[in-house]
Amino acid sequence: MNRKVMLVLGLCAVAVTAVAEDKAAAPEFPKDYRGWQYVKSMVIADKKHGLYGFHHVFVTGKGLKAFKEGKGYPEGTELVVPFYEVKEEGGAMVPGALMKTLLMKRDKKATDTGGWRFAAFDASDKPLEMDVKAGCFQCHTAKKDREFVFSEWADK
Ligand code: HEC
Repeated sequence: MNRKVMLVLGLCAVAVTAVAEDKAAAPEFPKDYRGWQYVKSMVIADKKHGLYGFHHVFVTGKGLKAFKEGKGYPEGTELVVPFYEVKEEGGAMVPGALMKTLLMKRDKKATDTGGWRFAAFDASDKPLEMDVKAGCFQCHTAKKDREFVFSEWADK
């Protein structure tokens, strides 16, 4: 085998490993999140709004201190927000069917997206393929001074 062919094969192996590592780094659906710390809710009733839905935000226990301080999230911290339809029931706004679940997981290797892995899951908890840098991180950069997290703790 000549050197050029070996070099090409070597580069292919590197590319395949990179893809495999990226897949391994993709966060899994946080199936136990209902037992995590509940943080807050928000309702956006306008269906035309990009964030339409009834949201509840949760954080893993180890991220709670950082959440309260707005900085210092430990590696592995997860934040999750399920989006439900907004339903009107006898004058009350209540959560309807689950539409999707969004996740941020602290990973210092995710340097392109502020040290967080962003992921979205459909109503069956299956991962949604998307460009998370453009579709998620870009908007979250507005909160750079709070390590890209929008939600804030309310003491009372
Ligand atoms: C248009 C701006 C925008 C986009 C795009 C966006 N988010 Fe958010 N995100 C917000 C806002 C505002 C909040 C806080 C309000 C809420 O949901 O209650 C939030 C909250 C979150 C939270 C809870 C932690 C926090 O920051 O408050 C997670 C997790 C999250 N988003 C993940 C994602 C993922 C994953 C995507 C891409 C699929 C995404 N977001 C796209 C604006 C955005």
